[in-house]
Parts: sequence; structure tokens; C-alpha cells
Amino acid sequence: MNRPKIYITRLIPQFGIDLLKATCDVEINPHDRPLTRQELLAQIKGRDGIVTMLTDKVDAEFLDAAAGVKGVANFAVGFDNMDVKEATKRGVPLSNTPGVLTNATAEMAWALLFAVCRRVVESDGVMRAGQWPGWAPLQFIGGDVTGKTLGIVGAGRIGAAMARKSRGFDMPVLYCDADQNEKLEQELDAKKVEFEELLAASDFISVHVPLLPETRHLFGAKQFKMMKKTAYLINTSRGPVINEAELVDALKNGDIAGAGLDVYEFEPKMVDGLKDLNNVVVAPHTGSASVSAREGMSRLVAENILAMVAGTPAPTCLNPEIYKK
Ligand code: GLV
Ligand code: GLV
Repeated sequence: MNRPKIYITRLIPQFGIDLLKATCDVEINPHDRPLTRQELLAQIKGRDGIVTMLTDKVDAEFLDAAAGVKGVANFAVGFDNMDVKEATKRGVPLSNTPGVLTNATAEMAWALLFAVCRRVVESDGVMRAGQWPGWAPLQFIGGDVTGKTLGIVGAGRIGAAMARKSRGFDMPVLYCDADQNEKLEQELDAKKVEFEELLAASDFISVHVPLLPETRHLFGAKQFKMMKKTAYLINTSRGPVINEAELVDALKNGDIAGAGLDVYEFEPKMVDGLKDLNNVVVAPHTGSASVSAREGMSRLVAENILAMVAGTPAPTCLNPEIYKK
């Protein structure tokens, strides 16, 4: 039997590559950059399985170029870069990497929360510039965390993990989600509220929704005005959930106290003005960039691809209904 031909659009941790190489012919984008669209469409031709990144659009054009592909495994939990409906129509299984990056992403949300609230990056800049004149009682005063109210927007795996980690800080937890998370309510006394109530009552808001038509620009000028002026917004989900230009205005005007961002509306760019603000901490979409999360993602894409090329159900398939046809 011919060995399945696999293409990986960006170098990933070795574990998954080795897993694939045991039974498949594996080719990897040799560049340390995303492929251009033309390069991508050329490279995916004739492959049995493809591992994609969140920077690759998996749409009708992609699936045409990859005609005959037995499955596409996204190296991310978010899959807004994939047209699931189109792939399902064509009977092509897709997968993502849920579970393995839950804690890493929740930890990143906390890292951003503390960094912005206690002005860590701003202070670090002053220290490195040799501009610290010495201790003073009014220097770099930031917000408090312990006992403050945490609002979770989207209480799925990552949102719930973020909430659970608040236990050490005795924070009342509010959440909004289409679904009730009874486990979270039992564990933390978390309270499910309407979005508007969460906006008005939270001292920290952490966003964990997938990017969907209904979550695009969930946060804009109107929502920032409904938040406390002392509140902080943390986003480790997807950039377009926030209207970034309006966030810049809100941060400038003092509508909210600060923001910690890992994702951007127009990645890899930031909107004008964001980088000039001291009350925002910006990370380069590294929520899942921990050793164990990236290894887990590498393993999981390989396991999904191996199942796909064997014609068996992929472990974290996004469109399992194709197997029922
Ligand atoms: C990263 O953003 C992911 O969706 O895994
Ligand atoms: C992400 O996959 C989540 O469920 O929060």
C-alpha cells in the first residue's frame, strides 16, 4: 500500500511529525513564515492529509486545490479559519485541538490580567530605560484583584478554566453563555447573567467565545461605556470579537481602565494607536504557546490525520456527521 502523503503548512513540535512519519510521507513548509495563498494552494495538491494553521483559510478554493484529500486537521482549537459547511458538503473531515490547550490559554488570560492591572510591562519599560528614580508612595499604583468580580464571557472549556483559577483570589464569578454551566455554578458559585449585567458588574472581563457572525464586534464603544471605568478587559479568544479601533478610543477616554490582549482584529497588525497606550498589554497570540499545550496540539493533529487517512472517525472531528452518510 502506498504511504499516505501528508502536508503540514508550518513546522510544529516534533512529536506529531514523528507519529505521522512512522506510516506516512510527510512534507512541511520549509519557511519560517506562513505560505502565500499561491504557495499553499500549490503545495496541498495531491495530499491525503493536511495540517493547517489558524493563518490558513480552509475554504472552497482550498478544498478544490486539495481535491481528493481525506481530511484537514487544524493546529488550533479555534476553527473560524475553516468553512466547516463546505467541507461537510464534500464529505471532507475537519478537526481542531480542543482540551490540550485549555489550561495554557486560561493561564495566559491570567498573565495578561495581572500584567495590565499591576502595570508590569509599563514598569518594566521604565526600569530598562534607567528611568526609575527610586521608590515612591504614588508610583505605578494599579488595580486590585482579590475579592473583585470576574466576568467570563463564554464559559466553555477555556472560560471555565479561567474562572476556576480565580479561587485563590476569592473572586465572585459571573458568566454569560448560551448554555448553563452547572458544574461551574456548583464549584464556584458562579452566576449566569445577561451580557449587559456582566458588563456593568465586573471588575475584570475575560473573553472566551469562538469567533462567529454573532460574536463579531461583541465589544464596541457601547459595551465599553457600560463597563466600570475601573474595569479591565482581557481577550485571548479571537481579535474580531472586539472592535479594536473603538477599544483604543475607550482606553484613551478612560471608559475602561485597561486591556490585556493576545489576539487582534487584523493579525498580525494592531490598529493605529494601540501600541502607544500604557494601559494595554499586548501579546503575540501566544495563548497556547506552552510546552505541554503545543506538544498536545502536535500529537492531536497527528492522531486526527492518521484516523482521517485510514477512513476512521477522527478523535476531535468537527463534522462527525460525514461518517454517518
Ligand atoms: C489559538 O488561537 C487556537 O485557537 O488554538
Ligand atoms: C475552547 O475550546 C473552549 O471551549 O473554551
